[in-house]
Amino acid sequence: MSPAPLAAYPALRLRRLRQADWVRRLVRETVLTPSDLIWSMVVHEGEGEIPVSSMPGVSRLSVKKAAEAAVEARKLGIPAIAIFPHIDGARKDATGSLALDPNGVIIRAVKAMKDAAPEVGIMCDVALDPFTDHGHDGVIENGRILNDATIEKLVAQGLIQAEAGADILAPSDMMDGRVGVLRQALEGAGHQDVMIMSYAAKYASAFYGPYREAIGSGKLGTGSVGNPGDKKTYQMDHANTEEALREVALDIAEGADMVMVKPGMPYLDIVQRVAETFRVPTFAFQVSGEYAMIKAATGNGWLDEERAILESLGAFKRAGAAGIITYFAPVAARLLGA
Ligand code: PBG
Repeated sequence: MSPAPLAAYPALRLRRLRQADWVRRLVRETVLTPSDLIWSMVVHEGEGEIPVSSMPGVSRLSVKKAAEAAVEARKLGIPAIAIFPHIDGARKDATGSLALDPNGVIIRAVKAMKDAAPEVGIMCDVALDPFTDHGHDGVIENGRILNDATIEKLVAQGLIQAEAGADILAPSDMMDGRVGVLRQALEGAGHQDVMIMSYAAKYASAFYGPYREAIGSGKLGTGSVGNPGDKKTYQMDHANTEEALREVALDIAEGADMVMVKPGMPYLDIVQRVAETFRVPTFAFQVSGEYAMIKAATGNGWLDEERAILESLGAFKRAGAAGIITYFAPVAARLLGA
């Protein structure tokens, strides 16, 4: 028997399904829509808008502007907004006292935004770093970030945010056990419907750089207390994956409704493993440095902006994310035809 003749042409041509837009749309495996986006936004204590120089196109917004932005989010079909505070440096202290100010800028913003657009979810960072003069996420004693003392403050902060009408609390501090204590406190205070999205797998990352400018937290650490110039004693080592799964498992057991991986683009493998392993809504944060990187390249004409934004966001959906926290949210929603 002679061997079958080699086919002169391939029978299977994968390009057949790519030949026209209609068939590409028909076989597309994942879709990005405005409903996948959480708009990351910085609010400040003053009036008007103040551009953040390392994040072209992003400004700190006054409470009034933030309320207008909530109305815009509703119009664009963006389901939720995550707000972060910029606090005047002179008013910060070592323990982040202003985090507990019931009249603070975040609290005023939550109220104004929920008044203006109650249909839009508002998510608050539960964290001390915008309020501490050293920029760390915890209370420091003898150069160490105290875990349990920090949790007490975080819980008090979270309760004030919930009281103001925040829909989602997002602890971003990486203290051990804070999700469980926060959940218990919310239940005890009658806030059983307030959701927790934990920054479950949060890495000590260079990509948060522009955020420090945005919230005015400057360089980390102060010589006087001897604390380190990075967050490696509480945020995760970027070499690790298994540890991320342990962090996520703990936060789910403690009562997190949704979990987050942060940063985003350099950690798509973590997003995929978390989403596949736990089957809980898994979000990715496309952080300030990722935004800055894309804007720097598009601003120089090195990348096509529209395609770079949509491709980067689409990659999170492909990895299995339920949604993306991103500074590109309003721009992306418009690109998506909202
Ligand atoms: C800190 C916090 C950070 C961000 C959100 N919450 C910075 C950090 O952990 O040092 C970063 C957001 C961004 O870079 O866009 N609680």
